[in-house]
Amino acid sequence: MELDQSYPAISDLAARARRRVPRFVWDYLDSATGAEATKARNRSALDAIRFRPAILSGEIDPDLSVTLMGRDYALPFGIAPVGMSGLVWAEAERTLARLARTEAIPYTLSTVATRTPEHVGPHVGDQGWFQLYPPRDPEIRADMLRRVRAAGFHTLVLTADVPVASRRERQRRGGVTHPPRLSPRILAQVALRPAWALATAQTGMPRLRFVESYTGKSGALSSTAHVGYLIRTSPDWGYLRWLRDHWDGPLVVKGVLEPADAVRLKAEGVDAVWVSNHAGRQFDAAPAPIEVLPAIRAAVGPGYPLIFDSGVAGGLDILRALALGADFVMLGRAFHYGLAAFGARGAAHVVHILREDLKANLGQLGLGSFDGLADRLVHRAHGCDDRPPEGRST
Ligand SMILES: Cc1cc2nc3c(=O)[nH]c(=O)nc-3n(C[C@H](O)[C@H](O)[C@H](O)COP(=O)(O)O)c2cc1C
Repeated sequence: MELDQSYPAISDLAARARRRVPRFVWDYLDSATGAEATKARNRSALDAIRFRPAILSGEIDPDLSVTLMGRDYALPFGIAPVGMSGLVWAEAERTLARLARTEAIPYTLSTVATRTPEHVGPHVGDQGWFQLYPPRDPEIRADMLRRVRAAGFHTLVLTADVPVASRRERQRRGGVTHPPRLSPRILAQVALRPAWALATAQTGMPRLRFVESYTGKSGALSSTAHVGYLIRTSPDWGYLRWLRDHWDGPLVVKGVLEPADAVRLKAEGVDAVWVSNHAGRQFDAAPAPIEVLPAIRAAVGPGYPLIFDSGVAGGLDILRALALGADFVMLGRAFHYGLAAFGARGAAHVVHILREDLKANLGQLGLGSFDGLADRLVHRAHGCDDRPPEGRST
């Protein structure tokens, strides 16, 4: 792939994406909340995880496939839900769904995507997960689940780390509103980004089409206030039980950072816990997920599926998460950097980068599979020893 020469890293795609989308779109995609300290901590905490390279391991052709919740995936990573995905690049949801189907990795459609499950379902094949921001109204709730299921999405993800809206100061400063309003300032930004403007003009201004299908006639009733009322973002344990009773497929809870919560979720019949701090977008004093992952693994025991995200920027980060107890890793922004940089080709290039990076780093570790990653960790507390983290089965 020739992109590999000029854009060998996801950071290269991010740099190009920044030049191709209007400023307010970049602020929406790239910002976190508060002083964005948690976003920075996600990066530094991942960088702090080191491995001991191996020598004289012979030829290695690693197996990158994994099984998660009874399904086989070709790679140990997938696409996290991103609201207003189609604002970043036109038809983002459809493009990413197709990519997921081609690569045999999961694609998670957000409740607040710009396209409906019915629109995306035919493109995603058997790789569709759906992320729920829970509606208040029980009838709407039941209808959403019915539609999601009928559109072919088999795994339901309840996002639990948005009990209230976060302030997202950089987004506010940048003029981001929901739905986007074409103020003179925003129009001036759009005028500087003709490729984005052209692509977006062809599909129409991005809207929350799934949610709007419940707000009556579109337009007047699609205000943030109305959507905010419809989507109750502060579910409780009773709500979770209702969901468990009404969704007969795999159920995942996203945004978990506490070992005790993970244990309780497991006991409630949740099929996997998604360890995440929402890429630092919700709470600026949250721990980095990689810091709490070993304790969560120890608490839930071996064999219980754990998914990880927040700040993953390459294959090495995926290995770090797998070594510390995750079974699977999701990425949100990386795929959107690829999309905004080069459309479908850019998103596919993200998969290429991650796959090659996984192989290169596994080779350094002398490993033909993800088993044994934990044994190659450098343990900071004990100097350079070879003990696996407490609580791991391997
Ligand atoms: C622009 C943007 C929008 C997001 N929208 C949602 C969403 O609608 N639902 C959700 O559960 N998480 C959402 N997230 C969080 C992602 O699912 C994921 O947890 C996070 O992006 C992972 O970190 P990464 O972007 O560093 O890979 C969003 C993240 C971003 C960057």
